Amino acid sequence: MTSASSRENNSKAANIVWHEASVDRQARSNQRGHRSVILWFTGLSGSGKSTLANAVNADLFNRGLATYVLDGDNIRHGLCKDLGFSDLDREENIRRIGEVAKLFLDAGVIVLTAFVSPFKRDREKARSLVDKEDFLEIYCAADLSICEERDPKGLYLKARAGEIKDFTGISSPYEEPVDPELKLDSGSLAIEECVDIVIGHLVAKEIIPNS
Ligand code: ADX
Repeated sequence: MTSASSRENNSKAANIVWHEASVDRQARSNQRGHRSVILWFTGLSGSGKSTLANAVNADLFNRGLATYVLDGDNIRHGLCKDLGFSDLDREENIRRIGEVAKLFLDAGVIVLTAFVSPFKRDREKARSLVDKEDFLEIYCAADLSICEERDPKGLYLKARAGEIKDFTGISSPYEEPVDPELKLDSGSLAIEECVDIVIGHLVAKEIIPNS
């Protein structure tokens, strides 16, 4: 990665020196024929983040592009299994995902992250790790009432009954993105329509070829 932010050392460890990679992001991009980028899906639980990220991922994969999905529920089974849903734990969750996404970016992969990521400051921190054009925030803007109606995992029902604390939208806030690259009405649009909008944006930004 070429951005200066990669080499900032505010680490706890002393005496560490950045080792320059011999195969860089540009070389990977040249070989693969597409740029890498972070597609950061944010929105309430049930807003369609994971479904959409996976559908976009499948479309990109079928075009022969290098992609990977980092999904909140899945990552919380491993890398982030030590974290809960307090504000501080969510902050650390998003910090880790921002760093992991940055590694994927450097590896030349289009990485799709599907996390509630409810706090603006945490999303901004993730964004600040990379160059401006490398981070596309995609707001899955389904209303709480629709998410609650869908309730695919039965979690809203439990949250309303007081069985889950700090539940986003019920007992913990969701701060809407102010200026996302894309805002999708995932409450009413069909999934295919959302996929087309995201793919269209990637083509328009010349991140992927138009094929
Ligand atoms: S984040 O807030 O830290 O970004 P993340 O996306 O990893 O959250 O995890 C959210 C997922 O965990 C939801 O889709 C839902 O399935 C589940 N979940 C369990 N408890 C909560 C809670 N208190 N608030 C939000 N989501 C929860």
